[in-house]
Amino acid sequence: MLSHAPHFRARRRALLAAAGSTLLAGAANAATSAAALRAGAMRGDGAGALQLAQANNGFEPRRGQSGKDVIWVPTPDALTTRMLAMAQVRPEDYVVDLGSGDGKIVIAAAREFGARGLGIEYNPDMVALSERRAAAAGVAARAKFMRGDIFAADFSTATVVTMYLMPHLNLRLRHTLMAMKPGTRVVSHEFRMGDWQPDETSSIGSQSAHLWVVPANAGGEWSLRFAAADGGADPIIGSLWMEQSFQTVRGRADFKGLATSLREPRLVGERISFGFTDPSGRPRQFTGRVSERRIEGRVTGAGRDGEFIAERVGNTPSINGSGPVTQTEIYGG
Ligand SMILES: C[S@@+](CC[C@H](N)C(=O)[O-])C[C@H]1O[C@@H](n2cnc3c(N)ncnc32)[C@H](O)[C@@H]1O
Repeated sequence: MLSHAPHFRARRRALLAAAGSTLLAGAANAATSAAALRAGAMRGDGAGALQLAQANNGFEPRRGQSGKDVIWVPTPDALTTRMLAMAQVRPEDYVVDLGSGDGKIVIAAAREFGARGLGIEYNPDMVALSERRAAAAGVAARAKFMRGDIFAADFSTATVVTMYLMPHLNLRLRHTLMAMKPGTRVVSHEFRMGDWQPDETSSIGSQSAHLWVVPANAGGEWSLRFAAADGGADPIIGSLWMEQSFQTVRGRADFKGLATSLREPRLVGERISFGFTDPSGRPRQFTGRVSERRIEGRVTGAGRDGEFIAERVGNTPSINGSGPVTQTEIYGG
């Protein structure tokens, strides 16, 4: 008996060690599975899709599966990150992806940029899958998903809108996007927005993304007052006329019989800049912010820096291009 004792103890130790290592292996496997699930989910590859299918009650998303208005094809990871970087997404942003598929853009906005987001997706299985992926990525509190139609859902509080749709769908959304708060950033994978020229286009390999910044409305007539360059107490008073198509502005300033065009007028969201030679012959540069009925900012040039204010005169004209796109423009004819 006694002679067996050392053998018995050794065997028990071996069994405990084996059990321990099995437990450790199990924990490691579980951790690996979770990591693989997250990595696969982020990659959107076949292995990831299979694991996700297992975690998603048997539903397995298929590239090219039909959707209400457009099929599902995920945006590649690198372009997803680039799209969010082009929009300069920050933690205070609210990112809405129109037709959110497996949720990757909203999840990346939360995970990589710390933002809140919402994915609007018509396919309920994809919504459930997105919610699982957000939970697996640890961002379920900030990355939300809803089943809905992008043409009926209200996403007006978004500060960043992303999409990967089709040209005619972008055009159908264009007037809704243009009516959003000035400064809202819109990023589209691959497809453009007709005559609304992008502010920036980036390509990674053969894939591209376009950025638009929703412009304020600077069109119409404004009374203009700005500090004189000679330091005199009296401001220079005139009027400003601007014509706006999408984010492109051009215009002139009028001063009692003198009219001058605006040099390099530029509008990005609510930020505006332009220049002209003032009535005393000095070059002046204006940079300001456009609100509903006021433009306020600084004027520089001729060694002086002062304030300028422009107040709207009369009604606000609508921005050229901001109305609903006609069927003919969308589908031709
Ligand atoms: C090309 S995928 C893009 C998915 C995701 N945004 C991405 O970039 O990875 C388009 C998605 O839009 C969804 N979709 C199509 N029509 C829709 C509609 N009217 N409302 C909501 N989602 C829609 C499809 O089911 C599909 O998941």
